[in-house]
Amino acid sequence: MTSAGPPCRSAEPPRTLAVVGGTHVVLRPIAPSDAPLLHAAFHALSPESRYLRFLGHLSDLTPSMLRYLCEVDGRDHVAYVAVVETPAGEAERIVGVARFVRARDEIDTAEIAITVADELHGFGLGTLLLESLAHAAATRGIRRFTAYTLRENRAIRHVLAHGGATTLLDDDTLEVRLF
Ligand SMILES: CC(C)(COP(=O)(O)OP(=O)(O)OC[C@H]1O[C@@H](n2cnc3c(N)ncnc32)[C@H](O)[C@@H]1OP(=O)(O)O)[C@@H](O)C(=O)NCCC(=O)NCCS
Repeated sequence: MTSAGPPCRSAEPPRTLAVVGGTHVVLRPIAPSDAPLLHAAFHALSPESRYLRFLGHLSDLTPSMLRYLCEVDGRDHVAYVAVVETPAGEAERIVGVARFVRARDEIDTAEIAITVADELHGFGLGTLLLESLAHAAATRGIRRFTAYTLRENRAIRHVLAHGGATTLLDDDTLEVRLF
């Protein structure tokens, strides 16, 4: 969805530091320049994680998909990345990404997706990324997240439960009421 207004990033820390499974990561909003690292992160995912995230077999991200994923408006489409940086502070590797896209017909609702690099599963990064999204949602009038997931995806259900009361709307849609 496109936005008529300017990006809205007020009251949000631009960078949050965390240690996840012994790895130092920086959580920050995604930037257009992240496209090559996001592309690499996609290829580093296991086939199972890729399937769970995209709900199908996707072998590559096209340049236009990468543009869509990285060039967000910061208001109706918000995305955070968890980045491993070099000692000089340059982005080296993306190990997590989370986004929401506001629904066209319900302005207080957004669809979310979260992905964490396989080697860092189970260390709390998915939950941290959800917290970043929930914080951004609160300043943009979004009260409800929905997520399309496979029924067997227990991990995302556990993560979303940290955001608020969750309800299974149908076979593959979870709803989270944030407040
Ligand atoms: C879903 C995903 C983002 C979770 O990220 P994560 O960093 O591993 O999650 P966390 O470490 O924050 O774990 C959060 C909770 O989920 C639980 N959990 C994690 N993996 C689990 C699994 N495979 N089965 C059951 N529970 C699991 C954890 O125990 C934790 O529960 P608790 O906080 O109640 O103790 C990650 O598994 C992933 O990237 N999966 C592939 C892509 C995907 O499925 N995306 C969702 C589509 S929207």
